[in-house]
Amino acid sequence: MTSSPRSRELATKDAAPNMPPFVPSSELERDPHAVFRYWRAKTPVIQREDGACLVLRAADVESLLTDLRTRQIDGALYTRIRGVPAGPLQDLMVESLLMSEGEAHRRRRTPMSRVLAFRAVEAMRETVRSAAESLIDGVEAQGAIAGQVDLMAAFCAPLPPLVMGRLLGAPAGEAQAFAHWVYQVSPAFAPALPGEDMAAMVDGAARLTAYVEQCLTRAMRGHAPGSELLDNMLAAIAMDALTLAEAAAQLVTLIIGASDTTRAAMALQVSILAQAGGTWRRLGEDAGLARAAVTEALRLEPSVGSVPRFSMEEIVLDGGVIPAGRLVSLSTLSAMRDPARFANPDTFVVDRTDHPRWHLVFGGGAHRCIGEALARLELEEGLIALSRRLPDLRLVGPRPRIEGYAGIRRIDGLQVTW
Ligand code: HEM
Repeated sequence: MTSSPRSRELATKDAAPNMPPFVPSSELERDPHAVFRYWRAKTPVIQREDGACLVLRAADVESLLTDLRTRQIDGALYTRIRGVPAGPLQDLMVESLLMSEGEAHRRRRTPMSRVLAFRAVEAMRETVRSAAESLIDGVEAQGAIAGQVDLMAAFCAPLPPLVMGRLLGAPAGEAQAFAHWVYQVSPAFAPALPGEDMAAMVDGAARLTAYVEQCLTRAMRGHAPGSELLDNMLAAIAMDALTLAEAAAQLVTLIIGASDTTRAAMALQVSILAQAGGTWRRLGEDAGLARAAVTEALRLEPSVGSVPRFSMEEIVLDGGVIPAGRLVSLSTLSAMRDPARFANPDTFVVDRTDHPRWHLVFGGGAHRCIGEALARLELEEGLIALSRRLPDLRLVGPRPRIEGYAGIRRIDGLQVTW
């Protein structure tokens, strides 16, 4: 691609020497991969009209994830920028591990980390498989009547809350009820969009918090089926490591973190693989292939496009500068198509050998995604179950449009038939 006249004009006119070139967010929204491909070859960092700096190259993104000159956006700052009113949503963000640092972050993350470690999560494989299978029963039934199904609504969106419900020891019916609140509140954790509904986000946060507090109270009284996650939270409360409100905020963050990210990733990987010739049919019989397909789909079309940070001081990169005091968007979307790191970066290569040990889509450093193992398990089992049960699955119409280049990306629907 050649840069559009608008971004070239802005780049030369407005940016001081050494400052990152300006690229309008409208261009980024329209075709992020093409914009990043163009600029990544020229400069390590660009800036939007709001001053946010986007870091483009894999080596820089990786090193800045753990660089002490950047820090996590804290909850108070984030809620101010986002215009979140005082109340349950603001409380959730201020208390969330995602928006805290140091000792508070460690206290809030520790009770959840063992339950979500790769080995512990592996024990959930059967549970996740049966949740996926039960949803596919409904998909088949809908398909028999309508001839086509929105797989996003019927499978990708309900699976993550169903799995989280099992982690909380909640009955299946309850999990489907809280799915609605999850998707109500989750846009609050992504960049602001025109027309977004703050009242719905606040309502979702209030209901989800009340629900999680009820789960904790039930477990405290011994009235709930076993949940190691809740037991660990109760132990942390008993040791005064967390207050009840703090424990609830971490569980709500976990549920939200598990939902939009994974439903979009599921839809994106199905849309890529349903068009990948014979690979779709082989996924159901080859768990290794499914694992590789998940990893590669997450690279090519990630459901989370960036990790936000704040620059505490000026940061000089090779060929560019991030000024102090800026919102820094570490563009994993761009980094994962950096030709300096990946051969044929714009192509889906299921057996590529250049994936790093730590997949960039899950971030890095102290805040690296705590749910990676569970996300991968859901994505693998989802693909395997769909391929086995619907071997002739194909998309209806063109590949669905993916919106967004930063934070959690959006995909409207996924019409399929078979
Ligand atoms: C494909 C699916 C997923 C993707 C792409 C993803 C991506 C990420 C990324 C990039 C971060 C780092 C954010 C930062 O540093 O600011 C993160 C953090 C987090 N994720 Fe995920 N995630 C996914 C699934 C999940 C799941 C399934 C869960 C829960 C079981 C989860 C829970 C969280 C939580 C609680 C954090 C905050 C961790 C902390 O601040 O210490 N995520 N995720």
